[in-house]
Amino acid sequence: MTVPALAFAAPGTAVGEAGPVELAAATAEPAAEEGRARVSGKLAAGSTVLASAVRDGVVLCSGQYNPVGDVVEVVGVGTLPSARRQGLALGVTAALVAEARTRGARTVFLSAGDEAVARVYARIGFRRVATALIAEPPADPAG
Ligand SMILES: CC(C)(COP(=O)(O)OP(=O)(O)OC[C@H]1O[C@@H](n2cnc3c(N)ncnc32)[C@H](O)[C@@H]1OP(=O)(O)O)[C@@H](O)C(=O)NCCC(=O)NCCS
Repeated sequence: MTVPALAFAAPGTAVGEAGPVELAAATAEPAAEEGRARVSGKLAAGSTVLASAVRDGVVLCSGQYNPVGDVVEVVGVGTLPSARRQGLALGVTAALVAEARTRGARTVFLSAGDEAVARVYARIGFRRVATALIAEPPADPAG
């Protein structure tokens, strides 16, 4: 869970600084332990499925899917900034989709935050069906 946290802290698809050293430091944080316990519970319950790309014992990219009946949402795909642009997200997402379909999923969907991210998913066959918008309350001027 620490890899997606570091990945989402550096949005976009560009290669960045954070890599295995930063991952080791973040993994040692108490919050990371809580995250691992939470995901372990979901994996054991079958409410999520996780795939990772690992090199030399270091997780460089991971993602999950959450099934509800025969519908699956792929979530939390993230690649460590220093390991980007090597095809890892493509591979992890393809593995998630293959596993979901093997387990009987008929609809697999995900949301891409921007055009560059959407391109990665288009390469493995995802097609755009809609645009989702997020509404937020205005910033509190006093706050
Ligand atoms: C989006 C994200 C998961 C992509 O991860 P990634 O492992 O770098 O993805 P890929 O390597 O499969 O593809 C990224 C680019 O590298 C290119 N690439 C892949 N293998 C390559 C190689 N061997 N040599 C050169 N370029 C390569 C791809 O063609 C793609 O290029 P494009 O940007 O021109 O389309 C990653 O940037 C990330 O974690 N971003 C922040 C979190 C996020 O937004 N996640 C998505 C949630 S919806």
